[in-house]
Amino acid sequence: MILSTRQMLLDAQAGHYAVPAFNIHNLETLQVVADTASEMHSPLIIAVTPSTIDYARDEYVVAMANIAAKHTNTPIAIHLDHFEDITRIKKSIDVGFKSAMIDASKLPFEENIAKTKEVVSYAHHYDATVEAELGKLVGVEDDLVVDDKDAAYTNPDDAVKFVKATNIDSLAVAIGTAHGVYKEEPKLDFDRLAEIRAVVDVPLVLHGASGVPADQVRKAIELGITKVNIATELKMPFAETLRKVLVEKPNESDPRKYFGPAKEAMKKVAIEKILMCGSNGKA
Ligand code: 13P
Repeated sequence: MILSTRQMLLDAQAGHYAVPAFNIHNLETLQVVADTASEMHSPLIIAVTPSTIDYARDEYVVAMANIAAKHTNTPIAIHLDHFEDITRIKKSIDVGFKSAMIDASKLPFEENIAKTKEVVSYAHHYDATVEAELGKLVGVEDDLVVDDKDAAYTNPDDAVKFVKATNIDSLAVAIGTAHGVYKEEPKLDFDRLAEIRAVVDVPLVLHGASGVPADQVRKAIELGITKVNIATELKMPFAETLRKVLVEKPNESDPRKYFGPAKEAMKKVAIEKILMCGSNGKA
């Protein structure tokens, strides 16, 4: 059964670990994260961006995730990641998604509140959970591009007002991470995270975890992060291995022969990230 992220994240908050949210794109990548989470007894959030839904289609993702949940016995949530269009969120909730991020972080504060509230009221009616973002993360996540000049860290006072006004289930905070590949090692603003944690009670989410040294992510989890989003670091070994196999064997036409090694390469990273989150053995 597909779950919402509600209980999963509350358990993580109480247990001082984080649930990994892995972005997937197709059957192969979904299988990698579901099988790995199952083998490691970790709860799992499978995340898809709007362009992944355009590519794979929401009903396919719901069907695949349902099969994964049934066969693996792992608590699995499927999550709409960085959705800006309310109509699209409602449509995907209607076909079985139980978790959504409404990303209205580009809008002025009051408009972000209004848009988020509308999603919360719809989602809660269907027992689905809502994540929203305050502050802006620099970088590229599929179609979402934020320049350095537009990046902004989350303000703790605004976070209190925002959570109260919207009734969201989790809050994505901007504390120095970025989407995509880092140009230099990121420096997370741990003081800001601790301040936000002290005044906000909902689970907190760290986006842009690819390329952040594991000790920094672990420290963020100690300070209250309960969901860690990883996309780029999973995609890269998959693509690199696929490229290598096809170059080495230009006549190979059997998808199982070139997707197999790519899945293995991705799995190694999924294992590392589950260990980093401390979610192994929690399901
Ligand atoms: P990365 O691609 O940097 O891992 O970011 C993932 C993310 O935050 C998805 O929302």
